[in-house]
Amino acid sequence: MADSRINSLYVHVPFCAQKCGYCAFYSEAGSGELINRYVAALVRELELVADELAPRTIFFGGGTPSLLNLRQWEQILKAMERLKLLGAEECTVECNPATVSADKAKLLRDFGVNRVSMGVQSLDEDLLDRLGRVHSRAMAFKSYDLLRGAGFENVNLDLMFAIPTQTMAVWRDTLTEALAMQSEHLSSYEVIYEDDTPLFTQLKAGEFAVDEALACEMYEELVARATVGGLQQYEVANFAREGGAARPPDDPLAGVPARVCRHNVNYWRGGSFHGLGPSATGYVRGVRTKNWSNTPLYCEQLEQGRRAFESREELSPLRRAGETAAFGLRMNAGWPFGEFARVTGFDLRREWAGEMDQMVERGWAVRTAERFHLTHQGLRFADAVAEVFLR
Ligand SMILES: C[S@@+](CC[C@H](N)C(=O)[O-])C[C@H]1O[C@@H](n2cnc3c(N)ncnc32)[C@H](O)[C@@H]1O
Ligand code: SF4
Repeated sequence: MADSRINSLYVHVPFCAQKCGYCAFYSEAGSGELINRYVAALVRELELVADELAPRTIFFGGGTPSLLNLRQWEQILKAMERLKLLGAEECTVECNPATVSADKAKLLRDFGVNRVSMGVQSLDEDLLDRLGRVHSRAMAFKSYDLLRGAGFENVNLDLMFAIPTQTMAVWRDTLTEALAMQSEHLSSYEVIYEDDTPLFTQLKAGEFAVDEALACEMYEELVARATVGGLQQYEVANFAREGGAARPPDDPLAGVPARVCRHNVNYWRGGSFHGLGPSATGYVRGVRTKNWSNTPLYCEQLEQGRRAFESREELSPLRRAGETAAFGLRMNAGWPFGEFARVTGFDLRREWAGEMDQMVERGWAVRTAERFHLTHQGLRFADAVAEVFLR
């Protein structure tokens, strides 16, 4: 019988040393007591889904997973070992440079964590302050070296651009220094002004203005410099190094660089995944779930032995396919028609023929016999493209 277990696991860790002024991810500066309670609840949640999981990719995101102490990490990883959830091909932990230590890095490596994603955001001291980051630029370099020393050979760095007061010269310096670090992967997002964040309040109060033209130039600079630095763009905001053997042409990831974040590729290509922890979303056999964005409530539910769903929604196959089309088009490789049909059961060429023509006419996309993908300009407007493909 075919193995129908889910191959992808996301775990949300809802704690940070301090909240950054721009961030709307569900996280808070939790007490030791609440963090311990969360860890016990998470272990319970892992037990509830373990039988349905055979993870090939695992992603601990946040929040700041690296904030958990050695004992808490050991508790989670030993539970996963007992439940036979370790040994994924790719297992990532998000880190903040202020919360990395040699002991923690060693423990993670020992339990099979083989990828780290570090939030650097900027290498300019003033901008780090402006963003409310807890770490200095020196800490970013030091933590990176420490992770390399601990044996992490697959590292992502996160950078932000179009930060208020950031000039092109400062962005160029950060890019130069970040690329010189030679990470295998780079994620770089333009600042999003999220409702209910201090940065959004400052914008609304007129403390600074958004310079769209500068943001566009910064994006162009990012793409150009990352490419020259050996990092190939494979998604709107994601870049990865080549390496290893080329993928065969019939591989669904043909044309995608070796060091991509496979966990996110599964997500963009419409794959299923379990999402555990407060606020986490999951997508399993066409059903989208979302856990409560409230850590005490999340813990309470698990303590009573049940999942902590705030919502559970079964999408119609066409709506699901529309979302899958939109997500997948964020990748430079776009959608190979065969792969889209395999994942969704729909033929992109039949169901979205008009939309594809429209995008090609605008110069935002290219259609070949095998696939449909966005152009450089189309990728810049991937959110607008997504709107067109949703059903
Ligand atoms: C969960 S955090 C990464 C790990 C860790 N919490 C940290 O910040 O160091 C995920 C990433 O999302 C990006 N991010 C968060 N809020 C953003 C916003 N409002 N605009 C653009 N990027 C944002 C940042 O680059 C951040 O590193
Ligand atoms: S950016 Fe990272 S460290 Fe800052 S508040 Fe968000 S999750 Fe926490």
